[in-house]
Amino acid sequence: MTRNHWHFSRPRLAQAYLGSFNLGLSSARGLFARRRMGKTEFLKQDFIPAAEADGYVAIYANLWEMRSEPANALVAAFFQAIEPKGFSKLLHKLKPSVKKIRASGKIAGMAEAALETELQDEHKLIAGSLLMDAMRAFDQSNIKIIMVIDEAQVLAQESNVDFAHALRAALDIRKDRIKVLFAGSSEATLRKMFGKPSEPFYNWAALEPFDLLGQDFVEAMVEKVASVTKFPLTLADALYAFDELKRTPEFFRRYLDRYLTNPFDGALGALEYTKSHVFNDLSFQQQWQAMLPADRAILSLIIADNADPYGKDSKEKIGVALGLGKAVANNTIQNALRRLSDQTILTKIDRANYQFEDEAFADWLKHLSET
Ligand SMILES: Nc1ncnc2c1ncn2[C@@H]1O[C@H](COP(=O)(O)OP(=O)(O)OP(=O)(O)O)[C@@H](O)[C@H]1O
Ligand SMILES: [Mg+2]
Repeated sequence: MTRNHWHFSRPRLAQAYLGSFNLGLSSARGLFARRRMGKTEFLKQDFIPAAEADGYVAIYANLWEMRSEPANALVAAFFQAIEPKGFSKLLHKLKPSVKKIRASGKIAGMAEAALETELQDEHKLIAGSLLMDAMRAFDQSNIKIIMVIDEAQVLAQESNVDFAHALRAALDIRKDRIKVLFAGSSEATLRKMFGKPSEPFYNWAALEPFDLLGQDFVEAMVEKVASVTKFPLTLADALYAFDELKRTPEFFRRYLDRYLTNPFDGALGALEYTKSHVFNDLSFQQQWQAMLPADRAILSLIIADNADPYGKDSKEKIGVALGLGKAVANNTIQNALRRLSDQTILTKIDRANYQFEDEAFADWLKHLSET
């Protein structure tokens, strides 16, 4: 059975987004929902095909997958869609830049970090000029574009601010032919991105919650189960499981897999298995182990009593956790919080208030600290 077979299509939601673009009501929109709720699947499997059927050239870029160089990734995706030849030009331009630095003899005496910065600056310049090239190629064409920028919160990072300004300026004057759909899992960052006057995309897109999957999704899945097994799942069992799994489509799909492969354990057995798996997920374990001790200490404090990381108490506790015997300095906290937000683990809600982006990870951590 193919994976697609289990996809629950949402044509009406896709048409709703498309409709607002077509009517000229908006040329940019932003949607957000927590992790694993089905944003990417909707964008790729429902929205983009619908946009293409409607005559748009659709471009998809996931900035999280390319977070070390989102600018280049975005420009590359753009070029690939409108002018494949322009794309090979991009590759040509990128290579000489590395050569140039090598030839300058800088490499031998250069610390790795310095070299990296140098390369990054170089790439940024190139991304900026390639963006202009791409827009010029676009201006000469007569296509209309829908650009889907997934994990758009990456654009709000300080290191991408120049590119974000350039991108916004380029898109601003082409609103009639380039529509943009931003998506992301960090509501707080997206709110800042579109709501704070100093941000490049201030007031640029209407931000709204992504319509979450609900009962009709569960019903459709129950029907699919009935079509492939002699052990149909009751709707009541399925709805109960969906709730227990925090109405998270990804976990619900795992539950269905478990149910189908172990029908004799029954619906409750599958649910118990899935829950224990979600909460003891090996990947959380690995993610946790890979973190720096200061980051772990901060997360533990926040999960335990939503403590202000900069509070006097917190700084002392973190000092103890690190074996320092004294309170840590503000910049230790600051650096840790920056790392955690760069990895979209934590988001700052307001002063002294932080939220876990991934509810499943937060849950896992809660269980960890209780045992
Ligand atoms: N429409 C759907 N039909 C069936 N299953 C779905 C659907 N949407 C999501 N799922 C299930 O949920 C999983 C997670 O979905 P997806 O990757 O789209 O979430 P996301 O919101 O983009 O998460 P993240 O923020 O982590 O990127 C999918 O791999 C799939 O198993
Ligand atoms: Mg996604």
